[in-house]
This record gives sequence, structure tokens and C-alpha cells, in this order.
Amino acid sequence: MLIRSPKAWELPESAVTPENLYHLSKRRDFLRALGVTGFALAARDVVAATAGFPTRVNPAYRDPALKPTPYEFITSYNNFFEFGTDKAEPKINANKGWQTEPWTVEIAGLVRNPFKIEANDLVMKMGGAEQRVYRLRCVEAWSMVVPWDGFELSKLIALADPKAEAKYVKFTTFVDPKNAPGQRAGNLDYPYVEGLRLDEAMNELAFIATGIYGKPIPNQNGAPLRLVVPWKYGFKSIKSIVKIELTDKQPKNTWQVLQSSEYGFYANVNPTVDHPRWTQASERVIGGGIGGRQKTLMFNGYEKQVAALYAGMDLRKNY
Ligand code: MTE
Repeated sequence: MLIRSPKAWELPESAVTPENLYHLSKRRDFLRALGVTGFALAARDVVAATAGFPTRVNPAYRDPALKPTPYEFITSYNNFFEFGTDKAEPKINANKGWQTEPWTVEIAGLVRNPFKIEANDLVMKMGGAEQRVYRLRCVEAWSMVVPWDGFELSKLIALADPKAEAKYVKFTTFVDPKNAPGQRAGNLDYPYVEGLRLDEAMNELAFIATGIYGKPIPNQNGAPLRLVVPWKYGFKSIKSIVKIELTDKQPKNTWQVLQSSEYGFYANVNPTVDHPRWTQASERVIGGGIGGRQKTLMFNGYEKQVAALYAGMDLRKNY
């Protein structure tokens, strides 16, 4: 049995919200589907069940040495160019009327079972949310530690049943210039696109986040569904996904299209390969105060889980 002492950032068991606050019918259906009502949830497994989905800590992805970044920092220091290029802008501009519920995501391309599904229904279909604490390392050389709630990407891909020709997964973000000032300004080529090799996408660490700290994921962090690939630079973790497509060609990701000499397809965190304009050997820890820098780890500390994916590859060429 796992015995753990609650961390300061965890809500106490008494904070588990009673059933009458699960007013959104979808979410009530979800609880019913799990066979639980109200306080029948195993309280010790619940981090927080606010207005979002209940979530269970997965102890396999909760390294006690990692200290989660405070919620305030994670949700107010963001890169989401659709809502501005300044770190503080997404929190303001993504919450001025942009609607992320209901939200349809499409699974398409080289699969035997293509489908479209509403985001809440997808979480239900995936068996609910679990919480994993992952490092996040931006290519700009800052880092955070985020308790993400969501489900493993491999489960979703398995459901779509890829055909033998499928070799890559292409992810696409929404287009809504009316609500997204960055799209009106054309500060990047939209829609934002990202991609993974299929075996990368099937790696146990690749995750679709639907929450942070047990709360629904805020708009500025990529509501309602965003990718999390913790061994790669943050730009691979595409936000607010509307389409996931299996393909036989390597997708052209947005930052590679913008400046291929600086940003590649793989974008694996690698302290030995510097960005042309700055070092990648160390990183500024957000919330770490003055002097809060630390060494960057190979594959952002996930070498054990992912190094085999790149065996025999020249990581200087495949940056
Ligand atoms: N996804 C979209 N659609 N648009 C973006 O501008 N920025 C990326 C990534 N996903 C981005 C995106 C970058 S550069 C980073 S570092 C992370 O989101 C930041 O995630 P966070 O704001 O949740 O920390």
C-alpha cells in the first residue's frame, strides 16, 4: 500500500466537492460511469475534485524530488501566441469570451476507426483523469514542474486503431481570429501545428492534459485538451487541440516552418546542443527566485523512458 504525506499544494480530503456541485450533467454522468457518487470517491486517491473531473495521483509519475511550481505561476506565465506574445497576455486574452466548452476534437487520417468527440466525452471514454507531475522545459531556457491531470495519449491512439502505414501523428490547434488576437495579428503561421513520430506518441510519458492541480485546465494553458511531452521542449506540447491525424509523412511543425535553423522536428531537451542564440545547458526555474537556475538534464530527466527511441540517431542533426 502506498503511504504518502500530503504536500502543501494538495487540497485536503475535506475539499472534495459534494456531488451537488457537479452541476454539469456531463461531469455527473462521468461520476456515474465510474460507479461513484459524492463522497464515495476513495478520498485518499483524490487530489481535488472541484468543478472539474476527479483525478487520481499516479504514484509512478510523482517523483518526490520534484517540487511543483505554484499554481499562480503555471497559469500566469504562459506561451500561447494565439493570445499574444507577452507571457502575461494569454491569461487576460484567453479569458475574454473564448469558449472552450463544448469542444469537438477529431481523430482522423490513417486509422481504422476515425471519430469526432466532445472533449468531456473523450475524458469519460478514456476512463477518467489521472495526475502526473512532470517537468516542463521551454526552449527559451526556463522551466516549471506541473501536476497535470489527463490521460495517456497511447490510449487514444489505440482507440483510433492506426493502419500499418501510419508513422507520424499530426496535432492541430483551433482557428478563431475573432477571439484570438495573435491570429488576427498573424504573429505565427496559423493554425499552430505539431507532430510526433508514432512510437514517440505511444511512449508512456506522452500525455493529453485536461487539468492542472486537479482543476480544469485554464484557457491560457490550452483548454480543454493539450499535449504534454515532457522530454521535449515546451513548444511541442501543443495547446487546445482540434485535430489529431495519423499520417505517413513527417508533419511540418509551426516553429520549424518559422525558423528551421533554430527549431527542429524532434526538439528533444538536450543540454549539449545549444540554441544558436543561447545556451541550453541550464535553465531559469520559474518561481525559483533570484539566482534560481539549475542544470538542464538530458531528455529533461526522462532518459530512462525515452532514450531508446533515438538509439543510433545523431541528435545534433535531428535537433
Ligand atoms: N500551443 C499553441 N497552440 N500555441 C502556442 O503558442 N506555445 C508552446 C506550447 N504550446 C504554444 C503552444 C510553447 S513555446 C510552450 S513553452 C508551451 O506551450 C507553454 O505552455 P504553458 O503556457 O502551459 O506553460
